Amino acid sequence: MLRDLGVPEEQIKIESFASPSRAKTTEAAAPSDQRNGAVDHAADKAAGSLRFARSERLITDLGGKTILEIAEQQGIPLPYDCRAGICGQCKTKLVSGMVTMDAEDALEPIDRANGVILACQARCRDDVVVDA
Ligand code: FES
Repeated sequence: MLRDLGVPEEQIKIESFASPSRAKTTEAAAPSDQRNGAVDHAADKAAGSLRFARSERLITDLGGKTILEIAEQQGIPLPYDCRAGICGQCKTKLVSGMVTMDAEDALEPIDRANGVILACQARCRDDVVVDA
């Protein structure tokens, strides 16, 4: 609304607040893993593995943790702030594989189209590779 009124971008400040609720879980797939632009909602699969491509690290014991939690355990620095899916500081490129996210308020449609996920929310559904 402020943009529509002509307020300069540098004068627009956004403040978000998080609650710990987990009302829904959504899925995301890397663009190369999407079929006809749709995310595969097939039956749940056990989590597979997580590879941090730039850090050259492969994790096979995921323990139901988020990608951010696993990165922290492995000493791989990923930015974060809210840990609730709101701020977007933890946006990470999903190179391949599928994840589920309990919240994804910080993702814009262009993020979803480009396979960007929120590391603080994303849990692996299969063999996942992220650009981190
Ligand atoms: S740390 Fe805020 S959205 Fe992930």
